[in-house]
Amino acid sequence: MTDGSISRIATARLGTHGPEVGVQGLGCMGMSFAYGPSDADESRATLERALELGVTLYDTADAYGAGENERFLSPFFKAHRDDVVIATKFGLAIHPDDPTKRIIRNDTPYIRQCIEASLKRLDVEAIDLYYMHRRDVDVPIEETVGVMAELVSEGKVKHLGLSEVTARELRDAHAVHPIAAVQSEWSLFSRDIEANVVPAARELGVTLVPYSPLGRGFLTGSFAKAEDLTDGDFRRQQPRYTGENAAVNAALLDPIRTVAESHGASLGQIALAWVQQQASVHNLPIVPIPGTRRPKRVEENTAATRIVLTEQELALLEPIASKVAGTRYADMSFASAGRE
Ligand SMILES: NC(=O)c1ccc[n+]([C@@H]2O[C@H](COP(=O)([O-])OP(=O)(O)OC[C@H]3O[C@@H](n4cnc5c(N)ncnc54)[C@H](OP(=O)(O)O)[C@@H]3O)[C@@H](O)[C@H]2O)c1
Repeated sequence: MTDGSISRIATARLGTHGPEVGVQGLGCMGMSFAYGPSDADESRATLERALELGVTLYDTADAYGAGENERFLSPFFKAHRDDVVIATKFGLAIHPDDPTKRIIRNDTPYIRQCIEASLKRLDVEAIDLYYMHRRDVDVPIEETVGVMAELVSEGKVKHLGLSEVTARELRDAHAVHPIAAVQSEWSLFSRDIEANVVPAARELGVTLVPYSPLGRGFLTGSFAKAEDLTDGDFRRQQPRYTGENAAVNAALLDPIRTVAESHGASLGQIALAWVQQQASVHNLPIVPIPGTRRPKRVEENTAATRIVLTEQELALLEPIASKVAGTRYADMSFASAGRE
């Protein structure tokens, strides 16, 4: 834990030509979407505290609250335009017949429509890092990245990213235009990308941006099952936190607790230290984006960038992922591992 004093975190580069950012970013999704009610003032204080601590990569998407998250972040981004790196995404469209559902779209007219809408909501001239959020397998990736590259030439976007892509998709995309970052789920509970995506990213000079590094909060021990969460919380439908799976998975936190005790750290800090340390394990830059809406937690989370786990501790944590009950999405075609 920190004493609240300002001690800025280290930095890492996004891709070979991208900006240098704080080695931990901030996931802003929960401020408007998915994880129950938020307090806007507390979220704003979290953004400011993160910046003081050296967090410069802020992650949003057009899909987070149908544009609401981008609109909410806009005043903060504008107030600190030269000090923040804005990452947003396209690719998850509202279903034409059911506004509660999403469909994946990567076609050119849709991307053109999305970039204009995001620029308008964010009220900035350019987006620093523009991700394809999900892959529409009916559109060749070369075509999608070709349009994204046009956005770079037009000055609307500075760098390109892809989320939940396979190693093959990453290689094909990178051949069209350099990819600065791949964003995928990566945590003590979700390690499927280590098989193919991580080696491809290392080889191509692409930075890995792990999302849900705290297992959507489960790895902090702050909730143990879906019923602990408020109605409408997205996690209530996720296979890992429901029924018998939740009990199996809660028991998997024991080794994390042991390591946390020896460091005088929280469970969440050990989960974040583990993801961060994968940078040296796999020899590539990694910028995790834990999500929080609370200033004290951003202090706690950024302090985890300074924790170094021993070989014995890494070995103790190693078996956890293979014992996790339940897939990370109900529909695994939503994740790159479902297509590898
Ligand atoms: N590319 C994609 O498809 C994709 C998918 C999911 C997420 N994302 C991005 O990745 C970001 C992070 O992922 P995530 O938010 O899903 O999961 P996460 O970072 O693993 O966990 C976030 C949850 O943990 C809680 N939390 C954070 N710090 C904590 C601490 N120190 N102690 C206790 N609880 C703590 C948060 O609650 P409070 O907010 O109440 O603190 C929130 O409920 C998102 O914000 C989003 O920007 C991307």
